[in-house]
Amino acid sequence: MVTRRAAAGSLDPIEKASVDELRSLQLDRLRWTLKHTWENVAAFRSKCEALGVVPADLGALEDLARFPFTVKDELRAAYPFGLFAVPVEQIVRIHASSGTTGRPPVVGYTRKDVDTWAELVARSIRASGGEPGDRIHIAYGYGLFTGGLGAHYGAERLGAMVIPMSGGQTPKQVQLIQDLEPDILMCTPSYALNIADEFARQGLDAAASSLKVGIFGAEPWSESMRREIESSLGIDAVDIYGLSEAIGPGVANECIETKDGPTIWEDHFYPEIVDPVSGELLPDGEFGELVLTSLTKEAMPIVRYRTRDLTRLLPGTARSMRRMARIAGRSDDMLIVRGVNVFPTQIEERVLKQPGLAPHYQLRVTREGRLDTLTVRVERTVSVAGGDVDRIAESLRHDIKAYVGVVTRIEVLEPGGVPRSAGKAVRVIDERCK
Ligand code: DLL
Repeated sequence: MVTRRAAAGSLDPIEKASVDELRSLQLDRLRWTLKHTWENVAAFRSKCEALGVVPADLGALEDLARFPFTVKDELRAAYPFGLFAVPVEQIVRIHASSGTTGRPPVVGYTRKDVDTWAELVARSIRASGGEPGDRIHIAYGYGLFTGGLGAHYGAERLGAMVIPMSGGQTPKQVQLIQDLEPDILMCTPSYALNIADEFARQGLDAAASSLKVGIFGAEPWSESMRREIESSLGIDAVDIYGLSEAIGPGVANECIETKDGPTIWEDHFYPEIVDPVSGELLPDGEFGELVLTSLTKEAMPIVRYRTRDLTRLLPGTARSMRRMARIAGRSDDMLIVRGVNVFPTQIEERVLKQPGLAPHYQLRVTREGRLDTLTVRVERTVSVAGGDVDRIAESLRHDIKAYVGVVTRIEVLEPGGVPRSAGKAVRVIDERCK
């Protein structure tokens, strides 16, 4: 649809810089990051010493590959403030990474970090077609999760009117969208669908609402899901990527005019792709694990952070900065069922292509004897008669076998049967280890 695009005059100068200018800025900033981290984070210094490298060994960007990785367990081991590179008195904000049990790894921000983050989210909203004066409805959760407050500060920085609704209370979300007429919706893609369903439940046409753009992220979603959301809400849906360890949302954002994968804001983050098993550096274009190094963060710089997110680096299109392909999934979310590797987004593509099914699903993996069974729980749409369910289930089972290569059991539930979430959807229930 693409009814909007960022006005050229509103771009940050670096968004229009040449690749050479960008690389030179990255090298300067990378030198600063390595020195700052080396001088202030003992754990980083000892890892470098073990590998026999010092910050001065960075002569070119490629030399970064000689430096040690950082993994999530190191954040846990340093809980809460062990990886901070500034005195704790200079920390003005704490967030925590989501989706983990036990103590969540804590991340910290200086005043300047909060400011950088707001700039990056404002830039992301602009890349999504947002403008000063827009009304932005934020349904990402507020709190330790970076989604709500990250979006909030960015939207304010842009000069938008912020509607800080947070997640949940779905009927009220619809009421506020109807009454306050926002231009932009920010939430997880799965929650956007829940909001669309709630419009329908109230007998309202979601596609006729004031919304023009949705900026969705925080969980993997497929191209089919984008089309589904765009048609049910009558908007352009763009992908925003980020993680707490790096800063939160706004590490990368899709440009609305191309919708071809998030542009990485390379003036603040240096991306690499490595083989998820061996850690070997892979060339641009190859599929592997995204590794990020922050270039400007003061409070908690990250050097070669293993995100576990699987993607590819692609050349810039709407900007000179590189893009990443839509995240296929996390390495720890990849299911291996009877020897076949499966990502939930691959099943999602097939579910959404199947007439008669709603775009809600959950995967359950069980072990019977020595065999794993993958059950796909889906919902029939309201218009489908109960009698057609067996035929739909068989068609989906056949389709998943043909395209994904895995044998599944399909359970078609009544409308509303798959549990909904107001934030990140729970796509996989793995009961094999119980
Ligand atoms: O989810 C930050 C965020 C908030 C991003 C709002 C976008 C919008 P965490 O809770 O630390 O931070 O989770 C980070 O979520 O490593 C990915 O696995 C996943 N993720 C985030 N954005 C996307 C996306 C936030 N656009 C983890 N596509 C990351 C796929 C995503 N996965």
